[in-house]
Amino acid sequence: MRARIAPSILSFDPADYRAPVLELQEAGVDWIHLDVMDGQFVPPITFGAELASSLSTLGEAPLEAHLMTLTPERHFEAFVKAGCRRITFHQEATVHSHRLVQALREMGVEAGIAINPATPVSTVLPMLDILDLVLVMTVNPGWGGQSLIESCIPKVRELRAIAPELDIEVDGGVTPGTLPRLLEAGATTFVTGSYLAGAASIASGVQELRKACLCAS
Ligand code: DX5
Ligand code: ZN
Repeated sequence: MRARIAPSILSFDPADYRAPVLELQEAGVDWIHLDVMDGQFVPPITFGAELASSLSTLGEAPLEAHLMTLTPERHFEAFVKAGCRRITFHQEATVHSHRLVQALREMGVEAGIAINPATPVSTVLPMLDILDLVLVMTVNPGWGGQSLIESCIPKVRELRAIAPELDIEVDGGVTPGTLPRLLEAGATTFVTGSYLAGAASIASGVQELRKACLCAS
């Protein structure tokens, strides 16, 4: 499976998310990753579906919503209507994850489940037949700019061994330095926030990430 770059807008200036999204689109990224935080599941509050709607027409790469919210199902319809093509919610945020994955698929979008660093891979295994993606968090959710938690890498490896064709996304502390090890462990989609916001330019940062995708042995 080809490696995919899914930049998060979280570390850019919230007063102007359009400009970096246009540059990301021009740089040919695969997805635009929207970190939706509700101040409950995680302490910070970010943005809602209105932002997704406003960013949805800026280029070809589709939007994905990473819902860090309690009762994630309350937000599905709004983000689908706003043009998100994939919605990922947290396993820890509901006791009905199988039903919620079914609901997303019925709405015609890709369905993903995210697992926090302390949540074992075994919790998503009963849903592999209906999931489009598993997001293995490589930091504790809520903030950009944290360092990758090393103990999350074996979780990627464990999941890959069980699910050879699954799209496995990693999110948190992804840089050209850490990416090759995640790729080697079996990750296929790479979320990156603060690295790109701090890069000399978005285009050069995306290029470095693409180069890193070729580095794994
Ligand atoms: C954390 C978010 C991430 C994060 C990534 O809760 O899900 O998408 O912003 O940021 P970096 O790349 O800075 O770790
Ligand atoms: Zn995220």
